[in-house]
Amino acid sequence: METIRIGDKKVAFLDQRKLPEETIYLECGSWQEVAAAIKQMVVRGAPAIGAAAAFGMALAAFQYNWQEEKEFRANLERAAKSLLAARPTAVNLAWAVEKMADSAQKAAGKEPAAVAELLWQEAVQIADRDVAINKSLGDVGAELIPGEADILTHCNAGALATVGYGTALGVVRSAAAQGKKVSVYAGETRPYLQGARLTAWELQQDNIPVTLIADNMAGYLMQQNKIDLVLVGADRIAANGDTANKIGTYSLAVLAKAHGIPFYVAAPLSTFDLSIKSGSQIIIEERPAEELTQLAGKAIAPEGIKCYNPSFDVTPAHLITAIITEKGIIKKPSEESIGRFFKEKGI
Ligand code: MRU
Repeated sequence: METIRIGDKKVAFLDQRKLPEETIYLECGSWQEVAAAIKQMVVRGAPAIGAAAAFGMALAAFQYNWQEEKEFRANLERAAKSLLAARPTAVNLAWAVEKMADSAQKAAGKEPAAVAELLWQEAVQIADRDVAINKSLGDVGAELIPGEADILTHCNAGALATVGYGTALGVVRSAAAQGKKVSVYAGETRPYLQGARLTAWELQQDNIPVTLIADNMAGYLMQQNKIDLVLVGADRIAANGDTANKIGTYSLAVLAKAHGIPFYVAAPLSTFDLSIKSGSQIIIEERPAEELTQLAGKAIAPEGIKCYNPSFDVTPAHLITAIITEKGIIKKPSEESIGRFFKEKGI
């Protein structure tokens, strides 16, 4: 399954709004189309929108490469701003856009056409590296998975949320590849149903045993000793380990703590935002009321009802047993343990 197909000066995204009924690709040849695809959730998941935005920047460079350098750079900056604003919570988006803007900056004095080629190569590299990082992360995380395990996950932190392999589901894939007997409970993840539509589909495609549950069933399953561990992805991790992820993650962490079940976060190092001290500084995206009031275009709530639809929540570090990265595992995440880890790894 390919989340992003790289073409000749164009990219195509597997349209995740249409899954699981249809597997169709939406082609984008301009940064405006990429920004719209991110905003409208054609492509979603922190690492995937980072890679998508990198291609958005490269496409912008091709769109304006006939202009004078000053005008070319002003337009690149405009594209960067819009791509950044497409979705605010996942830091991977900002990370990728800033990396691309930085590369463009370093190429100052070069012809815009040469800068565009360079940015395209950089975007391809970001995409390729994402898959490699996820495979390493998966192998690192698999050591935490017992020989037989029932794993509860939330939202979709799989191949569909990345360029390939996945983060939380990458750990599951690696554990399965090592011969461990893993099975996954996928929480449906209201209101957008990434668990039901995407995680259930993705694992089914790979023949990894998966059972779908409604979000409000998690506590009951834990009480019945049906869950060995919780494993989720992340959109932004603050310097103290507080972690933003899909709305509902925090509730699962509280439940896991109450039942003495390990709660793991799997995320690449690009998901850490060490510029913020704690999770209270993370901007939480609010999404349209229709995600709550409608299901597949059909009204499921009274017309005119007041809604509140925060798309993410923040799990405090003290509820997280460990954070799995491509460079190793951070047990008991805190400002000290994260700082030490980054220092030790020379990051
Ligand atoms: O709104 P989404 O579907 O983009 O939210 C996705 C998540 O919350 C994922 O868990 C997170 O981005 C990690 S993906 C590897």
